[in-house]
Amino acid sequence: MSNWIRIASVEQCPPGSAREFVANDRIVALYNVEGEFHALDGICPHQGGPLGKGNLSGCIVTCPWHGWQFDVTNGQHQTSASLLHAKIPVKIEGDSVLVDVS
Ligand code: FES
Repeated sequence: MSNWIRIASVEQCPPGSAREFVANDRIVALYNVEGEFHALDGICPHQGGPLGKGNLSGCIVTCPWHGWQFDVTNGQHQTSASLLHAKIPVKIEGDSVLVDVS
């Protein structure tokens, strides 16, 4: 069952940016790639770094702690093909960004 929660306004995450939000008790990393929003689990699978505070270049985010890189559109780690980080469904309604944390 879906559990859509508003986490931000569209203006809070402009194109090219990464942001960190909390939805229920889950940390969400939100990215805006040229107007398209994507969300990943905000906890880096390496040692728990904040992926929502990483640097976004194109569709690649770099974890601020040790530099692991993920494609935010699909969660794919950039050097380990077997490591797929959890995506979180995201949608826009009006000027609101919603995520499904069910
Ligand atoms: S915690 Fe993210 S790269 Fe180490």
